[in-house]
Amino acid sequence: MARPGHSAWFLLVSTATLLLASGASAQGSCANATFPAGRSFARCSTLPVLGASLYWNYHAANGTAELAFRAPSATGGWVAWGINTDGTGMAGSSVFVASQSANGAVSVLMTVLESFSPSLKNGTLKFDVPVGPSAEYGGGTYTMYATVALPGNATQQNTVWQAGPLSGGAVSPHPMSGNNLKSVLRLDFLSG
Ligand SMILES: *[C@@H]1O[C@H](CO)[C@@H](O)[C@H](O)[C@H]1NC(C)=O
Ligand SMILES: *[C@@H]1O[C@H](CO)[C@@H](O)[C@H](O)[C@H]1NC(C)=O
Ligand SMILES: *[C@@H]1O[C@H](CO)[C@@H](O)[C@H](O)[C@H]1NC(C)=O
Ligand SMILES: *[C@@H]1O[C@H](CO)[C@@H](O)[C@H](O)[C@H]1NC(C)=O
Repeated sequence: MARPGHSAWFLLVSTATLLLASGASAQGSCANATFPAGRSFARCSTLPVLGASLYWNYHAANGTAELAFRAPSATGGWVAWGINTDGTGMAGSSVFVASQSANGAVSVLMTVLESFSPSLKNGTLKFDVPVGPSAEYGGGTYTMYATVALPGNATQQNTVWQAGPLSGGAVSPHPMSGNNLKSVLRLDFLSG
């Protein structure tokens, strides 16, 4: 995958209004989502922007959550979801980024967004990922899966998500206005 340019390209949120996901979200449009055989999720949250939803099973005994993140995209686009262990917004976030090649092969990279001009180096995150990521694309929608150890064994986390275009197969900057700057949520993994 080619490296992105050095412009600020990802999620830039300086004064984000953090919302706490409410228990009511399970009654929203995420509730009836279907998944391939062998995957099911007890909780979900319809995220406030970008048409995205998060689904999970939270295991208090070991502090892990099995996740599915689902968001619409053109074939020539990428989607991302992650947790910011250091604050809010883009910088410092540990993210999963799903994209696809011209032949439709979907892959996921894990990276820490070290700045607003991140290297997108495929590596490790600031929390454990006991079950590494995978993703699928169909019907104009990406679905990414992974199991994460919630940082600090805390059920409330600053989550981020994003969507943008691919250019020559490489992740390119997302729009720097509108809903792309509102895609942050302090999520309670005990809700949904
Ligand atoms: C989910 O499906 C049930 C049963 O078909 C239906 O009653 C309910 O309205 C649906 N909920 C949503 C959010 O679509
Ligand atoms: C996480 O916290 C729960 C209590 O909420 C506790 O029962 C559990 O042992 C902790 N797990 C880890 C891995 O620290
Ligand atoms: C990132 O590395 C993992 C593990 O080697 C690999 O499975 C995955 O396809 C890589 N992601 C990308 C986008 O290259
Ligand atoms: C965490 O606990 C759940 C429930 O017991 C189990 O299904 C899952 O495999 C465990 N995950 C890890 C990474 O140990």
